[in-house]
Amino acid sequence: MVNDLQIELRNVSRTYRMGNSLVRALREVDLQVKKGEHISIIGPSGSGKTTLLNIIGALDRPDSGRVIVEDTDITDLGESGRSRIRLEKFGFIFQQFYLIPSLTAFQNVMLPMKESRVFSRNARKRTRELLETVGISHRAHHLPSQLSGGEQQMVAIARALANDPPIILADEPTGELDSENSRRILDIMKGLNRDMGKTLVVVTHDPEVSRRAKRSIRMADGRISK
Ligand SMILES: Nc1ncnc2c1ncn2[C@@H]1O[C@H](COP(=O)(O)OP(=O)(O)OP(=O)(O)O)[C@@H](O)[C@H]1O
Ligand SMILES: [Mg+2]
Repeated sequence: MVNDLQIELRNVSRTYRMGNSLVRALREVDLQVKKGEHISIIGPSGSGKTTLLNIIGALDRPDSGRVIVEDTDITDLGESGRSRIRLEKFGFIFQQFYLIPSLTAFQNVMLPMKESRVFSRNARKRTRELLETVGISHRAHHLPSQLSGGEQQMVAIARALANDPPIILADEPTGELDSENSRRILDIMKGLNRDMGKTLVVVTHDPEVSRRAKRSIRMADGRISK
C-alpha cells in the first residue's frame, strides 16, 4: 500500500431511480482513509451515510467514480470478485445485528469462516477465541432469541472478525441499544481499533459514538461537508 492509504473514493456518485424520479444519494464524494484510522460518519437521515458505507464495503457500486481498497480498484469487479473482497477485507456490523435466528451464537460466528466449509478444529478454536474477545463465551450456545440486544451485537462483532479482516464497517451499531450496552459495544469496538489495529468506519447519529472517533466526517445531501 502506498502511503498507508487503505480506502479511497474518487469522485463517487450514486443515484437511485424511483419510477420517474431520481434520488442523488451520493454526489461526487472524495474520501481517503488510512490504515488504522477510526472515523465516524454523521449527518441527517437520508444524507447518504449508509450508501457511502455500502459502496466502501463492496455491497453496492457507484454510477461513476472509483473505489479503491488496499491497492485494488474494486469499482468494476464482478460479483465473485466483490464477494471475495467482502470476505477478506471487511467485517460488517449493522444496527439490526442480522444474526441467523436458527443458529447459536457459536454457529453464527463460525459460519462465515473460510475454513468452516470443511469441518475444522481451527475454526472452532478461533470461534471460541472470538467469543472470548467480545466477552460473550458464556452465551455461546444460546440462540439469538435467547440473547439481549447488547449480547446479540457482541456476537455480531465476533462474526465480523471471523476472517480477521483489516477493516470494520459499522452502520449505527448502537442504534438499538440502551446507554449501558452502547457503552460496552463502543469499548469493544475501541479495542478492535487500538489493540487489534483494525480500521474502523462507523456511521452514527449518536454524538457520543462520534466523539470517540479520531476523525469525524459530516454528510449533508449526498456530499461530505467540510
Ligand atoms: N434502494 C434505494 N432505492 C431508492 N432510494 C434509496 C435507496 N436507498 C437509499 N435511497 C435514498 O438515498 C438517500 C440516501 O440514503 P441513505 O440510506 O444512504 O441515507 P442515510 O444517511 O443512511 O440515512 P439514515 O440516517 O436514515 O439511515 C435517501 O434519500 C434514500 O431515500
Ligand atoms: Mg442509514
